[in-house]
Amino acid sequence: MIDTHTHINMIEGSSLNEVVQNAINSGVEKLLVPSAYPKDIEEVMDLAEKYDNVYGMLGVHPSEVKDWTDNLIDKIKELSKNPKIIAIGEIGLDYYWDKSFNDLQKEVFIKQIKLANELNLPISIHDREAHKDTFDILKEHNNGSKIVMHCFSGSVEFAKECIKEGYYIALGGVVTFKNAVKMKEVAQNIPLEYLLLETDAPYLTPVPFRGTENQPAYVKYVAEEIAKIRGVSFEEIDKITTENAKKVFNL
Ligand code: NI
Repeated sequence: MIDTHTHINMIEGSSLNEVVQNAINSGVEKLLVPSAYPKDIEEVMDLAEKYDNVYGMLGVHPSEVKDWTDNLIDKIKELSKNPKIIAIGEIGLDYYWDKSFNDLQKEVFIKQIKLANELNLPISIHDREAHKDTFDILKEHNNGSKIVMHCFSGSVEFAKECIKEGYYIALGGVVTFKNAVKMKEVAQNIPLEYLLLETDAPYLTPVPFRGTENQPAYVKYVAEEIAKIRGVSFEEIDKITTENAKKVFNL
């Protein structure tokens, strides 16, 4: 398996060595670590250099765009010469936490899309309660970068609209929650060729560990749940999502 979105730099309860080793022991071959805050950029670079199976994504999360400065563009361009930097992320729109700076979120989102296009890198998208604006901006401004809808939270209909554009759908721990009817429907109905696995650790811990801190090793519970929902084997979900991730992120 490949955990396509995991903030291992934010895990507090275990050491990084333990987190990485647990992942390997659970059959997770690669960990893709996005930055969220500008300060994460250095941490992500360090992790990608330290661990063979850790890859980095650079970018600023929509909730943190007040800390954006345009000189991050040059910084990210320079750092992304490192082959372990495989995407721009996580970037997008978040209207859940704070709606007071939507326009700034959009402006920085567009700048980072253009940066990804220029660098010819895929993009890990954060879209929380902003489906329409996220989709419209991507459609208007993205020119050639592969798109991953990280922690997808829309309906089956929205998933299908995204897939029509060639976007990938990444599902995490929410799909294991008993009351997550909508996410189970998405897991059941999208073509497997567009499915990716993730944990978004340390957040959104899957059942049976819900309520404790998440880690990439738990991505197997996401894969098991999707296999159960679709009536296929765990091995099939493992195989196809790993192939998909390698294709999207050029691994
Ligand atoms: Ni995230």
